[in-house]
Amino acid sequence: MSTILIRALKLKVLFIILAGTMLQGCAQISKATYPPDFVYLNKQEIRTTMQKMAASISNIHALLSDTNHSQDQMRDKVSAELKNIETATRELGTAGKSTNHPLIDNHLDGFRDELIAALRAVESDPPDYYPAGRLVGQCHGCHAQN
Ligand code: HEC
Repeated sequence: MSTILIRALKLKVLFIILAGTMLQGCAQISKATYPPDFVYLNKQEIRTTMQKMAASISNIHALLSDTNHSQDQMRDKVSAELKNIETATRELGTAGKSTNHPLIDNHLDGFRDELIAALRAVESDPPDYYPAGRLVGQCHGCHAQN
């Protein structure tokens, strides 16, 4: 092989290595420049979270229409389901966080407020299940636009 060809090859290799490290550097920079209060949500994560919330909502409705529970059992079970929903909403980002999903950013805090109010009502003495039973109406904050 001629020396020129070898030199060209060496340059090529050098270039590839350089380009590689530069790209890596960029990937690291873009990771580092996500603000700490930003949550990236992908479609699948949102769906999984929604399915959990929908399951809890339907459990709440089943509990409220089932009269076979003692007052204490009812309160514990409904409050556990509300807490499951609360945990699920955390997966969508909590107060002060922004996401790549403006619909969620605009409505999540309002939904969480209603959720916490429903939980307080259930845990008050005597328990009030009315807001828990009506919580499904709050899903429409985001779902009305469908
Ligand atoms: C803060 C906004 C918001 C609230 C509040 C909300 N959702 Fe959703 N929901 C979404 C978004 C966004 C999607 C669409 C996900 C996608 O891109 O497919 C969705 C999708 C869904 C789906 C479809 C999931 C799938 O398998 O594709 C169900 C079921 C659902 N939501 C139920 C509920 C229920 C029940 C509530 C109330 C407890 C609720 N959602 C409250 C934003 C919300």
